[in-house]
Amino acid sequence: MTANEALAIDGGTPVRATPYETGKGLCYLSEEEEIAAVTEVLRSRSLFRYYGPQLLRRTEAFEKRLSTFLGVRHTVAVSSGTAALICGLVGLGVEEGDEVIVPAVTFIATVGAVVAVRAVPVFAEVDESLTLCPRSFEENITAKTRAVIPVHLANVACDMDAIMAVARRHGIAVLEDAAQAIGVAYRGRMVGAIGDAGAFSLQLSKNITTGEGGALVTERWDVYDRAVRYQDQGGQFTTSHGEVREHASGEPFIGTNLRMNEIAGALACVQLGRLNAIVGTMRERARSIRQRLADLPVDWRRIPDPEGEGGSVLFYLPDEEIAVRFVAALRAEGIPADRLYGGQPVYANPAVLEQRTPWRTGCPFHCTVHPTTRRYYMGLCPRSEDLLARGVSIGIGPLMTEQDADDVVRAVRKVAAQLL
Ligand SMILES: Cc1ncc(COP(=O)(O)O)c(C=O)c1O
Repeated sequence: MTANEALAIDGGTPVRATPYETGKGLCYLSEEEEIAAVTEVLRSRSLFRYYGPQLLRRTEAFEKRLSTFLGVRHTVAVSSGTAALICGLVGLGVEEGDEVIVPAVTFIATVGAVVAVRAVPVFAEVDESLTLCPRSFEENITAKTRAVIPVHLANVACDMDAIMAVARRHGIAVLEDAAQAIGVAYRGRMVGAIGDAGAFSLQLSKNITTGEGGALVTERWDVYDRAVRYQDQGGQFTTSHGEVREHASGEPFIGTNLRMNEIAGALACVQLGRLNAIVGTMRERARSIRQRLADLPVDWRRIPDPEGEGGSVLFYLPDEEIAVRFVAALRAEGIPADRLYGGQPVYANPAVLEQRTPWRTGCPFHCTVHPTTRRYYMGLCPRSEDLLARGVSIGIGPLMTEQDADDVVRAVRKVAAQLL
């Protein structure tokens, strides 16, 4: 008897012996196009984006292609999504002591980027979309609020119209965290291209990938200028176009190295060409699964713009206990189900709860110049905690076949018949 059979809800044969593939860009990494693009860079012996014996400028090409794809003026390719968020915050002028509003449900990197620029993360509730609740965002605004980071979680865009309206009313900068949603649209606009700036990740589990990588996009020259400098040691040496930088605006400053390399740039170009197909297939599979399960006695995740989503199958059950059992039973049926982030808000991380940073003194949490009274604790965002605890998410990937989608429907029905 297999492990799955032992666990299967009725003690019988599971719907699938093994889960289907849910990797996204990862599914294509050993394709000829990707291999050829990387090999070409290796042969050029010019792996650094700004100079080399036969520089191919693939990172720059990726920046141009992403700008065109999204319809934005500027892209800075960087080494990770976290780097993109940090460049975005630096670009927007967020400083020590400023408050930055983030949703209670996100990956730790959103919080880490705020702390990296010595600003104070302020947690706001998500709503049934599992993305930032515009009302909670507004309620958390204080005189110290400088920016907000709406997170397009798991291929679903936030309610950007409402979020932008609140932000504009209060003069707050919007940095979209689109790490988990490259290629997703909201009311006809690509996510990441709606706020003042947008950050993408190309890490291995994302819609397209270079293993590690990221990009910051913006319409604003001032944001681009500061971000492109920051990722290249303050822009003392070169622009993204390889020329010696003229300090066009503002004071030069000391930056750091968050640059993308040419291997990642070449891979990113090829993967970007696949993005519409990847997102399109995931959207279609997710939609078909949701439609066929629409009669189930569950509450579905709200999708602010179903036209533009990138493929989400997530529903809420009456309580945490039943959600845990439902996930275990689906996994026993060979379906890659999960509770997002183990059913916990981002501030449940002990380092966040205890406000621990590498520094014992100074901003954001131990600052005498800009003291903060913000404290984090379980129960801080009760609505978000409740939704996450009760949510069941099913993995979706671009290689999913219609047969795989049929299996999801059969398995969910089988488990629901026993548990609901
Ligand atoms: C919501 C969110 N923001 C930011 C990041 C950071 O991206 P990276 O891992 O490329 O630094 C991630 C990555 O998983 C993410 O999911």
